Amino acid sequence: MSSRTPFIAGNWKMHKTVAEAEQFIAGLLPRVYSADAVDVAICVPFTALQAMVDSTRGSRVEVFAQTMHEAAKGAFTGEVSAPMLSELDVHGVVLGHSERRQYFGETDKALAQKVLVALDAGLKPILCVGETEDERERGDTERKLRHQVQEGLERLSPEQITEITIAYEPIWAIGTGKVATPEQAQDAVAFVRALIKDKAPEAAPVARVLYGGSVSPDNAAELLALPDVDGALVGGASLDPESFGKIVDAAVHIAAS
Ligand code: PGA
Repeated sequence: MSSRTPFIAGNWKMHKTVAEAEQFIAGLLPRVYSADAVDVAICVPFTALQAMVDSTRGSRVEVFAQTMHEAAKGAFTGEVSAPMLSELDVHGVVLGHSERRQYFGETDKALAQKVLVALDAGLKPILCVGETEDERERGDTERKLRHQVQEGLERLSPEQITEITIAYEPIWAIGTGKVATPEQAQDAVAFVRALIKDKAPEAAPVARVLYGGSVSPDNAAELLALPDVDGALVGGASLDPESFGKIVDAAVHIAAS
């Protein structure tokens, strides 16, 4: 891990009612109370945002949304905008998760606008990028990452790029238990950092790049120790305070070493 503050974010996806979210956070807060050296976030469904913002106030856990629309308001039934999220004191938002791209038609073009709009609203974006299994087998991983990172950062100033977090999530590793090898994760994350450097040299040492895809308490220490990996975006293993807490612990140990 680098000199950047490690960042462990749990992406609940479409899990947890408000009651279940409250139960989770009651279990997590005492576990991460002293995790000073690590930034911790939970990315929760819209319906649990207000409850989680209230329950985490004054703690070290930040609350993120999982998506948002790029317009401030309008005739977009079912959508939620950046001003609506920041009004709730939400800290940030996940943008371009592969499930949003795959099932809900999220495009790179819309994402370029969403990243800009999120930053303008004071929300910290986590931009997700990653290749499919076919793309990796065809040798197209770098081409895909270059395209997604360049499009996602297209409208940002160099100062804005310093504020962004990019999560490298190979799609074949998401929810499959098939984690990237340390070498695959390191190579791809370093490549993403090189792309950031091409666009904004001053941002490359500051912007954080996370790994995501089947991160668990068993493999977290090895992944988080990789030189370019600044943290993890955790799906399934973030649903339980015990296993998510263990991943935060792994980051605390590495930050202290
Ligand atoms: P997973 O999900 O940890 O369950 O593989 C990661 C993600 O989708 O962000």
